[in-house]
Amino acid sequence: MTTNATAIAHTNIALIKYWGKRDVKLNLPTTSSLSLTLDEYYTKTTVEEGPEDKLYINELPQDSKRVHQFLDVLRAEMGDFPPLTVISINKVPLSAGLASSASSFAALTAAVAKFNGWDLSNEELSRLARRGSGSATRSFFPDFAIWEKGEDDKTSYAHHIDVPDLPIALVVCKIAGTVKKVSSSDGMVRAQTSPNYQSWVDESAKQLEEMKAALEAKDLEKVGQLAEANALSMHDLNLTAEDQRFTYFNQNTMKVLDAIKALRAEGYLAYATMDAGPNVKIITNQEQAPAIKEALAEQFRKIQFDIATPGPGISYE
Ligand code: DP6
Repeated sequence: MTTNATAIAHTNIALIKYWGKRDVKLNLPTTSSLSLTLDEYYTKTTVEEGPEDKLYINELPQDSKRVHQFLDVLRAEMGDFPPLTVISINKVPLSAGLASSASSFAALTAAVAKFNGWDLSNEELSRLARRGSGSATRSFFPDFAIWEKGEDDKTSYAHHIDVPDLPIALVVCKIAGTVKKVSSSDGMVRAQTSPNYQSWVDESAKQLEEMKAALEAKDLEKVGQLAEANALSMHDLNLTAEDQRFTYFNQNTMKVLDAIKALRAEGYLAYATMDAGPNVKIITNQEQAPAIKEALAEQFRKIQFDIATPGPGISYE
């Protein structure tokens, strides 16, 4: 055991989404999902022995309950370890609408493993991180990863898929800086009451296979089409939920989605994806990303735009 340990995990964006649980306690998903790790946004987490499990993000003390529960899951799985002070630097801006829980729980899992001297593969770490947050499973791997829904607790984790030299880029539209109204976990519970839920699950399995083929063929147009179709049908589930229907869309979301369609009509490679918030991320290539960013910045003066590119897997300091 060392006195402290530090790990860095980058966030990821799902091109084929995780949006539902078949086991809430074990955090087993209803579908497999596929993601792109992003270079620009990450979490750096240091753990050290402390009087009690306690979390600080960007130097501010946080409600430590979720982290404490997760550390107790790790203790039950791997054997006891002392209380930990968890110090996180989070470079995932809330306003980007990217899941900071992905990079946070991946970095935390890796830091705790290093602190305790556990010799685990990234797949084994991914499996443990799943219990903290599903999307964290995919943040151990560079570029592209697939979280296999698996058969059970032992077999549900993510692995890397190799897609060499794909010039994919993301234009991130920072529409809203507010904290999301419906958490991912709550949103999924509601979405699973949609009468369309089972057909989304079935369609998602097909889209995943098509996405793997499109990535292998380096067909970015097809990658974008599939990601957009998958994301928009995920958001349809929220609107058609039988219990507490809701939407993450706002007026600007709609306007940006229209603008993306218009860019496509002009010949740009531009497809939308969205997560648990109003922000839109545009899938394009690295050549066109600056022009798309510029065109949208001109049209939407109050929205900020970032360009993100494929990022690295987990690392340690
Ligand atoms: C829309 O991983 O935040 O970003 O497992 O409940 O913590 P929990 O959910 P979380 O959900 C992410 C949902 C999503 C799609 C995705 O990343 O696949």
